[in-house]
Amino acid sequence: MRLADPKLVSTLRELGVDLQPGVSLAGLTSLGIGGTTDLLRITRHESIPDLLRLLDSNSIPHKFLGGGSNLLVSDGELPWVVLQLAGPDPDVLLEGNLAHIDAAADLGRTVTYCAKHDLGGMEGLIGVPGTVGGALRMNAGAYGMQIGTYVREVKLYRAATRQIETLRGDQISFEYRHTSFAPDDMMLAVTLELPSKPYKEILQGIRICNEKRRSSQPLGQKSAGCIFKNPLGYSAGHLIDELGLKGLSVGDARVSDRHANFFVNTGNAAARDMLALIGDVRDRVQKAYGVNLENEVVVWNA
Ligand code: EPU
Repeated sequence: MRLADPKLVSTLRELGVDLQPGVSLAGLTSLGIGGTTDLLRITRHESIPDLLRLLDSNSIPHKFLGGGSNLLVSDGELPWVVLQLAGPDPDVLLEGNLAHIDAAADLGRTVTYCAKHDLGGMEGLIGVPGTVGGALRMNAGAYGMQIGTYVREVKLYRAATRQIETLRGDQISFEYRHTSFAPDDMMLAVTLELPSKPYKEILQGIRICNEKRRSSQPLGQKSAGCIFKNPLGYSAGHLIDELGLKGLSVGDARVSDRHANFFVNTGNAAARDMLALIGDVRDRVQKAYGVNLENEVVVWNA
């Protein structure tokens, strides 16, 4: 979708929005898949309510993009504009055991920064790509921890009230790869309360998690992490692997040979290839085990 009206474009500029026309989402997602649209980079949180009112009054559909690391986007010209936060610099401020973090901050860099200041707890998240906002929305976790455990406060744009609000951690429910945020809520910033730990000790934890990840996940390849959530009591990767589906392909979309719940783009996979592969694997698992695999990957299907 292209924003051509000069009046609209100039109002966007006044709101501190940087309009980047005709951006390919393939370049902004870790799967390397996705069509083209206008990207609106938001430099001022405060302007978001006005921005969304402006888009609504001009009947312009929109979607919020975080780090693009858990996302599968349709191909071709997309029917919505995409909004993304442009993070401030610095994007993490520490105050004792509290870390105030902008949602646009890179997750891995944030974990390392906190570690260097003797704040631990997030060692398991070190190899998880994406932004802190994306991790928060999905309640990202690995190796026995999840980010929700540490949330003290969240600043967000709430779709229900159309305002920027601050919620306390105990007003939000964090479950396995699920939170109580509404789909159209936009994460803006979070305060985490992290346990004190000597840097050396945190580093050791980080090394162990890194090693486990390297040995079991296809890190160098284009993927969106795990495609399916683990059904209660099962590992989706284990179920898919047991059916001998590693290497199963549709076009350039392929079930990873290393971890069967990672689907990789080996070249120029189209979104429809990846969607067909997801559907095929889901059907086979359903038939074989009677287990319905739910997507973990977020799909933007035009
Ligand atoms: N397994 C297989 N074959 C495979 C993959 C896994 O047999 O192809 C077996 C493993 O041998 C192991 C069990 O399944 O016995 C579990 O595997 P793993 O330890 O890799 O964990 P997982 O349940 O597949 C979850 C998260 C990952 C996270 C790891 C480590 C989900 C959907 N996945 O994977 O998160 O990194 O644990 O904590 O919860 C993600 O969310 O995108 C993600 C990658």
